[in-house]
Amino acid sequence: MGKDYTEEINKRRTFAIISHPDAGKTTLTEKFLLYGGAINLAGSVKGKATARHAVSDWMEIEKERGISVTSSVLQFSYGGCCINILDTPGHQDFSEDTYRTLMAADSAVMVIDASKGVEAQTRKLFKVCVMRRIPIFTFINKLDRDANDTFALLDEIEKELGIATCPVNWPIGCGKNFKGVYDRKTESIITYEDTRKGTKEGETTVIPVCEEGQAAAAIGQEALDNLREEIELLDGASAPFDLELVRAGELTPVFFGSALTNFGVEIFLRNFLEMATPPLPRKADDGIVSPTEREFSAFVFKIQANMNKAHRDRVAFMRICSGRFDASMEVRHVQGNKVLRLSQPQQIMASERKIVDEAYAGDIIGVFDPGTFSIGDTVCMPKERFAYEGIPTFAPEHFARVRQLDTMKRKQFVKGITQIAQEGAIQIFQELSAGMEEIIVGVVGVLQFDVLKYRLENEYNVEIRLENLPYEHIRWIENKDIDLDGLTGTSDMKKIKDMKGNPLLLFVNAWSVGMTMDRNEGLILSEFGRD
Ligand code: G4P
Repeated sequence: MGKDYTEEINKRRTFAIISHPDAGKTTLTEKFLLYGGAINLAGSVKGKATARHAVSDWMEIEKERGISVTSSVLQFSYGGCCINILDTPGHQDFSEDTYRTLMAADSAVMVIDASKGVEAQTRKLFKVCVMRRIPIFTFINKLDRDANDTFALLDEIEKELGIATCPVNWPIGCGKNFKGVYDRKTESIITYEDTRKGTKEGETTVIPVCEEGQAAAAIGQEALDNLREEIELLDGASAPFDLELVRAGELTPVFFGSALTNFGVEIFLRNFLEMATPPLPRKADDGIVSPTEREFSAFVFKIQANMNKAHRDRVAFMRICSGRFDASMEVRHVQGNKVLRLSQPQQIMASERKIVDEAYAGDIIGVFDPGTFSIGDTVCMPKERFAYEGIPTFAPEHFARVRQLDTMKRKQFVKGITQIAQEGAIQIFQELSAGMEEIIVGVVGVLQFDVLKYRLENEYNVEIRLENLPYEHIRWIENKDIDLDGLTGTSDMKKIKDMKGNPLLLFVNAWSVGMTMDRNEGLILSEFGRD
């Protein structure tokens, strides 16, 4: 690489924030912004959340800085680092997109509601983190409310998610009796202060726990005795801190706090930046790509259409994996085999768009996409020609047959459903012998069915009827030379193909999958399709 951008790149920390809806992800993100100057926000999508937050105190900050905290990618600086947060949408727009966003992150922050513990959505997203072996940092939130027993919470994370936990700090009480946290490294108590009205972390006091008198005065003798007991138990039971295991995604550091009252957020941020890695090397078809040693390259992880009704456009989000991006340079779109200039590379500030001049490995840029890009595509320098590993297609869990009501609008229907599938919001399949007249659509979250119907009607003027199918399991057939006619499964099994012509099978239940495996020796089935 001509110039050395190591320093800029090593400042980057790119993480996805995951949680079950209402655990406090938005609130925590808002507080992060307080600590760092917000630099850029990309992909702002105004939805219900914004309307809700419009009444909150934070709206003033949003207005002042001209940003919206509901953006899907957000950049801010803190402690000499440049931090990119990738938001993973909650249940309302839950789709494969959520999973794919995790592909663009180097680590994940998991927010858990202390009174609820591990919830369904966390579990799903977590599985993807584990598959990618990315480090996971846990923030247990809402300690200002009544919370579950701390040991029980940790136990639940370990059992449900199958990852060892290592509390970095420990809560002292909860709800009305929340007194603060105990920092294990410095063996000190950090007293709780409700800073809801203020901006940054308030007047907390740090008291070494050995200062008996002072500690008891701050949190009360009973709480202190209790804390000592818990710490003794914890020291005996928990896994020792091991940065290597954290970075390998096998141990999650756990922090406690209250995002709403802004307690424990800065402690978390500081520790996170120390423990999380700068952009990591990534696998490509010609070997491992080092972020600092190779010139510009990126891959598309998300495509979003009609972000702005007035523009009726499509934006492709790219994660830069190596080198420096300069808006004036030409790049190669590997899959399209074309050299082009990325059109209007942008970071989007609330409703206003800002063109980026430069960005580095670890950053996310959105580029105007006239329909050139697909999810998983690579862009690199014109002289190079390599491709990043494809993004796996996650197994949809709900299926429906799509019927078009007005057969005269065949063309619009095919165009619409193909484009929506290209964006990754849905997956489409066909009967083995049929063409586009028989389409089966598969989704990860049922809400995507409504989104599909709505978008086809509003954007493509096509009405459809969806007929739910009973299948819940999908498997791609990995055997290259499979004789599909000779394949015998259970009576409920259905043979279909994806849009690339790859054969696959649908099953009603897991038992049928096993049965089919038993009946067809040598059959290799996979839960993930490759692009
Ligand atoms: P999400 O993005 O994960 O869906 O959650 P969000 O931050 O929107 O928080 C969900 C609700 O939980 C909000 O209340 C928020 O104020 C509250 N909350 C977040 N963190 C804490 C915390 O540390 N302590 C307490 N007590 N509450 C917290 P809401 O009533 O739904 O909305 P709002 O009117 O407060 O905005």
